[in-house]
Amino acid sequence: MLKEKIVVITGAGISAESGLSTFRDSGGLWEKHNINEVASIQGWNINPQKVLNFYNLRRKQAAAAQPNNAHKALAKLENHFDEVVIITQNVDDLHERGGSTKVIHLHGELSKARSERDESIIFDIGEKPINLGDKASDGAQLRPHIVWFGEMVPLMEKAFDEVESADILIVIGTSLLVYPAASLINYSKPGIPKYIIDPADTELLNIEDWIHFKENAGTGVDKMLNELLR
Ligand code: OAD
Repeated sequence: MLKEKIVVITGAGISAESGLSTFRDSGGLWEKHNINEVASIQGWNINPQKVLNFYNLRRKQAAAAQPNNAHKALAKLENHFDEVVIITQNVDDLHERGGSTKVIHLHGELSKARSERDESIIFDIGEKPINLGDKASDGAQLRPHIVWFGEMVPLMEKAFDEVESADILIVIGTSLLVYPAASLINYSKPGIPKYIIDPADTELLNIEDWIHFKENAGTGVDKMLNELLR
């Protein structure tokens, strides 16, 4: 067992090969949907049915999707390293179904619903849709357990702590355009090995500092693992 702690930051790109759309690539979700209408508290207040329709469909798609090679390969890292923590911006559960045991969902989880009044009242709903009139135990309407634009990211402090104590940092399939998640990469210890797997040049990175596997996660993760375990 190797002693290093690995922290992996993932985004929508890692689930693309499982058939789930990314947000900002051409044909991505934010080309087809208005971000303010479906992913903000203002949108929820104006037209909750539209928001529920958006997340009910995404929940159904995520439940029907299967973890791909990248999710499974990351889970296998746990056989080689003392500690592996995944910090994901994704709201699907493909890391867990791929076998990873420590997953932090920065932007929430599709398979959970919460009270619109009290964010600490959270329910597992699995694949089921949320409908208008569905109530939490406090009598308030249920809403998706998703962190919307303009809302606090409750797990951010925990994520910063994980990145600060990482010995190896890996970033996979995220444009790093959404804050505060994107700021995580600035919290690593100086000099540690840093890998990025993304077919695009994510512009925010000082790429000289990072080893870039410029390809899809499905193949890129295997190449990176070969290098890590060499
Ligand atoms: P984006 O859609 O912004 O970025 C997806 C990234 O994945 C891009 O850098 C692509 O180049 C890369 N990509 C595409 N296909 C890939 C593949 N097969 N393998 C590896 N990489 C691939 O998605 P995120 O960065 O995850 O938040 O977006 C961050 C947040 O913005 C999301 O969590 C969501 C969204 O609005 C909320 O809804 C709150």
